Amino acid sequence: MRLLVTGGAGFIGSFLVDRLLASGHTVRVLDNLDPQVHPRGLPAYLSSEAGLLVGDVRDRVRCAEALDGIDVVVHAAAAVGVAQSLYKVEHYVDVNVRGTATLLQCIAERKDPLRKLVMLTSMVGYGEGVYRRRSDGRLLRVGIRTENEIRRWGWEPVCPTTGEPLESVPTPEGAELLARNIYALTKRYQEELALGLGAVYRFPVICLRMFNVYGPRQSLSNPYTGVLAIFLSRLLAGQPPVVYEDGLQTRDFVSVHDVVDAILAAIKAPAADGEVINIGSGVPRRIAEVARLLAKIAGVPSIEATITGQFRKGDVRHCIADLSKARRLLGFEPRVAWEEGLAELGQWCRVAAAVDRFDRADQELRTRGLLTERLSAEARGSAA
Ligand SMILES: NC(=O)c1ccc[n+]([C@@H]2O[C@H](COP(=O)([O-])OP(=O)(O)OC[C@H]3O[C@@H](n4cnc5c(N)ncnc54)[C@H](O)[C@@H]3O)[C@@H](O)[C@H]2O)c1
Repeated sequence: MRLLVTGGAGFIGSFLVDRLLASGHTVRVLDNLDPQVHPRGLPAYLSSEAGLLVGDVRDRVRCAEALDGIDVVVHAAAAVGVAQSLYKVEHYVDVNVRGTATLLQCIAERKDPLRKLVMLTSMVGYGEGVYRRRSDGRLLRVGIRTENEIRRWGWEPVCPTTGEPLESVPTPEGAELLARNIYALTKRYQEELALGLGAVYRFPVICLRMFNVYGPRQSLSNPYTGVLAIFLSRLLAGQPPVVYEDGLQTRDFVSVHDVVDAILAAIKAPAADGEVINIGSGVPRRIAEVARLLAKIAGVPSIEATITGQFRKGDVRHCIADLSKARRLLGFEPRVAWEEGLAELGQWCRVAAAVDRFDRADQELRTRGLLTERLSAEARGSAA
């Protein structure tokens, strides 16, 4: 098969490229080598066997060129980062929405039908995941917490009608997309554009809604995305990772190798055409505990995270993948054990270039009023 991977020089894309090449496929990459992700230009890990087209997905001529003779497209190029999307609004909408629209228009205009389009989208659209009310077991959704709600109820979301505590449960694909940050909206729009146009022009589309992907090659110098990479860049600079809230918020981390398995399965699985599918580990990890484990793997176990008690506006407390659909349609099962994945990350951080730019990103949030003062004194948060 001949495959195009947009964003193929990036973290997830480059691992996919390697696996596709190892299976004997012909691979082309369209990537503009965004300096925020690639401050040193072309990454050394990108295989020379991939045909690299340096170009922008918003450039119609370049997109059409990249698509020439291609059977399958995996669209991974994107501007990635929740907080940054709130002040680089135009850029995020332009790259993620117009870039996807440009790619789709070029696909629609091709003479040869496309065999498959796999879209790498995100769980970020859910906002808070699904919760269960402890008193009667009822499942419900809550909006993104406000500063006032946190002051009143504590860090954990509570039932909006009764004020009682809730417990986080896995979130299935049918859950309404409640997040309103710009990155989330653009990822949602990517899905709708692709599924909509795929139905009109009859090319099969699958959207993989990925949770927090981790692994080697994640940029250790980009302070806007990837909490593990951000913590590691701090630790490698001898600085404590900065944990907002009380550190008991959870995330679902999935290894990049498992994500690549899912993409390969999606390329092959006709039963999954037209579907949106969660890809995660299904396991919640508390952020403060993650920071502690990373200090160990970075060889600086004595550095403790600074837990700030601040609220980064728009952040979710818990959202964990329900993997039932991925199991049923893709035969997906996460294979990489957490300890094994972290050990691999540890090896990567020994050889990777890391520049700690966290302070700049944190300052940008403050300047724009996106980070509150410390709230923990008033809050009566508890673990989920
Ligand atoms: N990493 C995660 O945890 C995660 C989670 C959910 C979804 N995703 C999605 O997966 C995809 C890949 O993410 P990643 O973590 O590998 O990010 P990444 O930043 O490492 O890779 C993105 C690549 O896209 C390229 N790019 C950016 N703008 C471009 C443009 N206008 N034209 C062409 N190329 C451009 C960058 O140079 C980079 O190589 C993205 O769509 C992202 O939204 C990632």
